[in-house]
Amino acid sequence: MVLSSWYLIYLIHEERSQTQYILDIFTTHDFYIEKNILQDLDTEVEEEKIQDFDFIFDDSYQKYVDPEVPFIEKSYIPSDLRRLSWDYISDTRGDLRLRGTAAQAFENLAQDFYRDMGEKVVVVSSYRSYERQVQIKAWWCPDHLCAKAWYSEHQSGLAIDVWSASTEAYWKSSPRLMRFYEWFYENAHLYGYHNSYQNGVEIDGYAIEPWHWRYLGVELASYLREQEITFAEYYYSL
Ligand code: DAL
Ligand code: ZN
Repeated sequence: MVLSSWYLIYLIHEERSQTQYILDIFTTHDFYIEKNILQDLDTEVEEEKIQDFDFIFDDSYQKYVDPEVPFIEKSYIPSDLRRLSWDYISDTRGDLRLRGTAAQAFENLAQDFYRDMGEKVVVVSSYRSYERQVQIKAWWCPDHLCAKAWYSEHQSGLAIDVWSASTEAYWKSSPRLMRFYEWFYENAHLYGYHNSYQNGVEIDGYAIEPWHWRYLGVELASYLREQEITFAEYYYSL
């Protein structure tokens, strides 16, 4: 069957356009050949689209920041910050804010988390200004755990810390936190959220942080989840 199909493909290809060629392959019986050709086409389209993201400008939802890449403006403040609704979110500080689109997406996520897990998502940090990050560093937080001011995803108004911004070991010692993490890992990309630091300092620039989720939009977050890579791995592979 394989040989006969390849022969058929050869014959068709001699005479016809690319589209007709592909359509005609559907009429053959070697499903795995069709499947491989379709997958190749899908990958090409996906990769083309994914290049359109804007990693540079401070206001972009995909603005890339890490220990080497700061914001353009040191004093950057997002113009569309808003408070999070408390319906399905437990706000430990009383003043948690994200940019509008990221806030709405996180509220939707929290509502579905509540439906599935019967608990509110506890948020311990969200938007942090340049000055706030200076304060945090002044209390002695090392560079592998806290970004230098001007280099934190929190300044983008797109990043959020949940339950406990502590250590990976603490999270791993808690079955409850790990259940929450698993839910986020399975679902957060559907709302545009991504766990930025999954590999450690060498790859992502910071220690592993199961609590730190960042809005990238559904398309990029889903792509990263599907590929099982972090934003840093993707950014430095371009
Ligand atoms: N904890 C992360 C790296 C930050 O401070 O932005
Ligand atoms: Zn964080």
